[in-house]
Amino acid sequence: MVLKRKRLLAGGFILCLLMADAPATSFAQNTLWLPPGSNTSSEDASVGEITKKTVQFKGPALLGRLLFRSPSLLGEKAVRIGLSCNSCHPAGHVNTGFYISGLSNRPGHIDVTHGFWNAASEDGIFNPRKIPTLRGIRDTAPYGTGPTLPDLHAFTRHVIVNEFAGPTPSRWSLDALVSYLLLLEKQTGTDMIVQSPFSPATDLVSLLEPPLHAGDKTAYTLIGDLIIEELGRQINEENRQGYTQLARAIKKMRPVSSGASLNERQARYQRLLSLSRQLDKP
Ligand code: HEC
Repeated sequence: MVLKRKRLLAGGFILCLLMADAPATSFAQNTLWLPPGSNTSSEDASVGEITKKTVQFKGPALLGRLLFRSPSLLGEKAVRIGLSCNSCHPAGHVNTGFYISGLSNRPGHIDVTHGFWNAASEDGIFNPRKIPTLRGIRDTAPYGTGPTLPDLHAFTRHVIVNEFAGPTPSRWSLDALVSYLLLLEKQTGTDMIVQSPFSPATDLVSLLEPPLHAGDKTAYTLIGDLIIEELGRQINEENRQGYTQLARAIKKMRPVSSGASLNERQARYQRLLSLSRQLDKP
């Protein structure tokens, strides 16, 4: 079973699968994999994205947010140290304290063309670059300083596959990521809000409706794992029990996500939804 899934999914997902059993596990041990003096955590972790007031992170944009926060999107090294897009660009901005000994020359700078990430992209030069903000990114094409690419789809793909040696992203995951990036605004203002970094359980569970409706087990598993990972990031003493229960319920439903009848799948989806509504109650 596990072996089959390993073949089905790219290496990066193995960690989420492990986490699926224990959403309470955090990446507390990350730093053990890095040279002393490194700092990949962000002081800004509690800050949300600046967007137009009317924006709600639901559907593809929420999926994009989960991908942006997920180490599974990037390569094996990133998974091991718990690194995601969000580690360098927290909530689409800049982690000014980001530092990896040997890959950074000063905080907020990193060599993204180093063999550490992807042996094939090693350019043989120690050239850390300043981590840029992604706020207002839709208006600042072309992207990047090494190869410059004309659009966000192409650049995001380049970041995942070439810089971090991650698995080739599916069309829908690239679309979701880009739809998230397009919502990031440059500065606060009267028609802007700062989003809560916390995604309600109901919105997360709603992402499972389309794959359950279609009986698409592969998509159900991928999205389910992203949700379980996010529950792990949002877990605290108060919600621990409920979140663990929800994570288990999502995982348990995998086999029926394609096997059972449409009615059965819909009924089970409703049960997940009511469980998540309970958790969102203030
Ligand atoms: C280890 C830190 C790090 C991680 C992880 C990271 N980036 Fe970046 N990002 C950078 C640096 C440094 C640059 C500037 C280098 C360059 O231009 O090639 C950059 C540039 C970019 C740019 C171009 C900005 C511009 O104005 O030209 C985009 C878009 C971007 N990153 C998106 C992402 C996305 C999406 C992810 C996750 C898939 C990601 N980054 C992961 C460090 C990081």
